[in-house]
Order: sequence, then structure tokens, then C-alpha cells
Amino acid sequence: MPSQVRRTASEEETIALGEELARALPPRVVVLLIGELGAGKTTLAKGIVQGLGAARAEDVASPTFTLIHEFGSHPKVYHVDLYRLEEPRELATLGLEELLERDAVILVEWGERFPGLWPAARVEIHLRALEGDQREIRVHFS
Ligand SMILES: Nc1ncnc2c1ncn2[C@@H]1O[C@H](COP(=O)(O)OP(=O)(O)O)[C@@H](O)[C@H]1O
Ligand SMILES: [Mg+2]
Repeated sequence: MPSQVRRTASEEETIALGEELARALPPRVVVLLIGELGAGKTTLAKGIVQGLGAARAEDVASPTFTLIHEFGSHPKVYHVDLYRLEEPRELATLGLEELLERDAVILVEWGERFPGLWPAARVEIHLRALEGDQREIRVHFS
């Protein structure tokens, strides 16, 4: 799928966009979700997880405290949030490197804080709040 810029006007539309994007994802991929707090990263992740058939959107919550949530089996989906991670060395305790070896869809919030970690072939999704409930969502496949 080519890179694209989309706009959504509600949480529901962002979930629907996530479901659409899920259909374009290969079975093994890292997806970085990049944007400020409240931009809609977790909301988009809900749609992607649901679109992959790994869980229902309402069962996907921010992994802010547990850092990694796991869903489904084919494909396996991991939802990671590195917001609370203070230092790169804490990463070792997460077992992220081992996760990256697996055949899985790995959705990562705040992954840009640790740029050295990710494969060059990945999907980056930049989210930005515009006026009101509008969100600009730029999807870049590389
Ligand atoms: N178009 C939209 N897309 C996504 N979320 C939206 C949108 N409009 C309003 N919201 C609200 O913005 C918040 C986004 O939160 P969340 O997805 O947890 O953001 P993040 O994970 O980036 O911090 C939610 O409260 C959601 O209801
Ligand atoms: Mg979030």
C-alpha cells in the first residue's frame, strides 16, 4: 500500500481507519504509532487489533502500566507503550528484542523514543490533533 494521509472526525472513524489499515498489513510487521498524548494512537490500535480479528476494539486498552498487551494467535498482535520507560536499559527487562523476532504484528506507542530498536522495514503512523475531534493520520510504509 502506498503512503497516505487521512483525516478522521471521531473516535469511531479512527477505529474504522485502523480496521482498514489492518487489512493492508503483512503478518509480520512493526507499526510505530507516533503523536502527542491524546492524538489517537491507542484508538487507532483498537481498530487495527479488531481489524486483524485478534480482539474487539473495546477490549484494547492503553498498555501504559503493563507496557505490553498480547492479543490473538493468527496473527499474534502485541500492543506496546513505552511512554513510562525512563531508560533504554529498562528495555532489556521487557523482552522486546525477542518479540521482534516473532511472526507478529507489533504496535508500538512512543517507540520513537528509542529509535535504534526498530527494523528499517516498518510502518510509521503519525497522528496529529487538528481542530475539535479532527485528526490527521499519515501512514508511511517503508
Ligand atoms: N478523530 C479522533 N480519533 C481518535 N480519537 C479521538 C478523535 N476525536 C476525539 N478523540 C478522543 O481523543 C482521545 C484519544 O486518546 P488515545 O487514543 O488514548 O490517544 P493516545 O494513545 O495518542 O494518547 C480519546 O479520548 C478519543 O475519544
Ligand atoms: Mg495511548
